[in-house]
Amino acid sequence: MRIGVLASGRGSNLQALIDVWKQGRLHGEIVAVGSDYEKAYALQRAQKEEISNRAFPLGYYSSRGEQEQALLSWLREQEVELLVLAGYMRVLSKEFLHELNIPVVNIHPSLLPAFPGLHAQRQALNCGVKLAGCTVHFVDEGLDSGPIIMQGAVPVLPEDTEISLSDRILKVEHRLYPQAIRLIASGKVKREGRNVRVLD
Ligand code: GRF
Repeated sequence: MRIGVLASGRGSNLQALIDVWKQGRLHGEIVAVGSDYEKAYALQRAQKEEISNRAFPLGYYSSRGEQEQALLSWLREQEVELLVLAGYMRVLSKEFLHELNIPVVNIHPSLLPAFPGLHAQRQALNCGVKLAGCTVHFVDEGLDSGPIIMQGAVPVLPEDTEISLSDRILKVEHRLYPQAIRLIASGKVKREGRNVRVLD
């Protein structure tokens, strides 16, 4: 399966996917890395691995729609069959998702449906929950609202700060995301409306 990744920042999840791919355990190949930010470190990681990469900064286009059209054409050129969001900081429009017409997945640092949106770890701390974690889900037109594929939980400790909790969750993300992508790429993830069945 030809996998495209979109990332806006440091790209540690992208790196986790690259590492598993290089070990021959992804059941797919990462063929394209796109970003909305030209200085995203994720693009450098792609460059280093000689993966086709390109930035689509919103400021270069007259509208969000035009930016998405450019991204769409590029993903089609690269023949991407699965789009993986790894810290991509923009919500993809309904039109984009419809036209792209391939599965799109995301990882979010909370146990959804709790704490969608920005600063999920801070939201968890402020709420006083005792368990936090991350969620891999299909992307729909809402904010972190698509069908849930897999989740990983971690404890929230009394002395936690946003940084310590984020680090603990990130370690789980780096394990869970490649695992989820491998299962999708090997046809073991079945979507049935809101429910997702993982055959493992
Ligand atoms: C991760 O916490 C991920 O859950 C969220 O954005 C962050 C991306 O981190 N969607 P990185 O760029 O992969 O290091």
